Amino acid sequence: MRGDISINAERLLGEIEHISQFSDVPAPAVTRILYTPADMAARHYLKQLADAAGLPWREDALGNWFVRLQGTEPDLPAVATGSHIDAIPYAGKYDGVVGVLGGLEALRAIREAGVTPRRSLELIMFTAEEPTRFGVGCLGSRGMAGLMPWDAMRALQDANGVSLEQARADAGYTGELESVELSRDAYAYFVELHIEQGPFLEAADREIGIVTDIVASTTVRVTLTGEGGHAGTVPMPERNDALAAAAELVLLAEKAAGFRSRGLAVATVGMLDVHPGASNSIPSRVELTLDVRAREMRVRDAMLEEVHTGLKALARSRRIRHEWQVLNHDPACRSDPRILTAIARSAEALGHAHLSLVSRAYHDTVFMARHFPAAMIFIPCHEGYSHRPEEFAAPEHIVAGTETLTSTLVELAAL
Ligand code: GLV
Ligand code: MN
Ligand code: MN
Repeated sequence: MRGDISINAERLLGEIEHISQFSDVPAPAVTRILYTPADMAARHYLKQLADAAGLPWREDALGNWFVRLQGTEPDLPAVATGSHIDAIPYAGKYDGVVGVLGGLEALRAIREAGVTPRRSLELIMFTAEEPTRFGVGCLGSRGMAGLMPWDAMRALQDANGVSLEQARADAGYTGELESVELSRDAYAYFVELHIEQGPFLEAADREIGIVTDIVASTTVRVTLTGEGGHAGTVPMPERNDALAAAAELVLLAEKAAGFRSRGLAVATVGMLDVHPGASNSIPSRVELTLDVRAREMRVRDAMLEEVHTGLKALARSRRIRHEWQVLNHDPACRSDPRILTAIARSAEALGHAHLSLVSRAYHDTVFMARHFPAAMIFIPCHEGYSHRPEEFAAPEHIVAGTETLTSTLVELAAL
């Protein structure tokens, strides 16, 4: 690699294995939810690694974690990389983790080679990329970019009624929430390394994905309220069953996405809570989440409109009350061409075959890209499995991705 920089593959792969033990479920599955003991233990492990490498770090009021390798011109905006370590229930070992530990390895490798970049380099571990605990994904990067009203963030509660304010205080993060927002000149570039979470790189036999766009994504919480009653005694024509209405809504969403598949449109109802939840009781209330994504914002918006209109009609005909609460409605992201060029040049110099592709998952990069030139590097993952225990990224691909990231950071830090 450039200037005799070489990454320590054994160290990196060992750390990816090691951090997977900080989990609420047995291996190979990983569950690591914001501010739980597993999350805090994994954070502690990262701090130990940075300390051992002699790299200084700081944390903000949400627990976003920043590790710095000082450049020769430390007053210039830095070049940042990073990802997340939280994991949804029964996830795998690689989602997010590869970008955090790969980024740390990049900083260590550059330093160990005795190279001091012109711009400082910064690794970021973003708090709560996953929406598991508070219903909104990318909490840390949203805050850093100032893209969520602070009062809305303060009002967030988890399923047990614990507020984000309380949860972060319990985890030791007590500063003002507003202090999380970054200055607009904090970074010159941001680049995130991540597993693809889809099948295309593996199918095309390429080691590196160069991410040109990230899809636009929205999450809506829908509450449907009908009337409960005895499952044996209430005649069918007299029912307003909230779950039957929800079933129609699920199929409506599937249809709305189905015929827009060329626009990479997808719609998912991934959570459905039925009240009162007894086999012999008519469901009186259902709460569900609707996750809608597409490459173009207008396609995503048209799909949402179609589902919302359909919901109003079915609620009327079924005599069901409904609420439609948008939890997040995020823009699509276009990568910065200078970073794409640096990634391609790095991959080629290292002999790693590459392919340009769209990210169908969202990432912290979406929010960093609102203020800083940004892009992503993908590596293949087996069969595209992700958000499940079978998620697997081959060691040689993790190494290829980390080498490409390292070289890209060096190039960007010299600009
Ligand atoms: C991120 O994890 C996503 O849901 O795309
Ligand atoms: Mn994920
Ligand atoms: Mn991720």
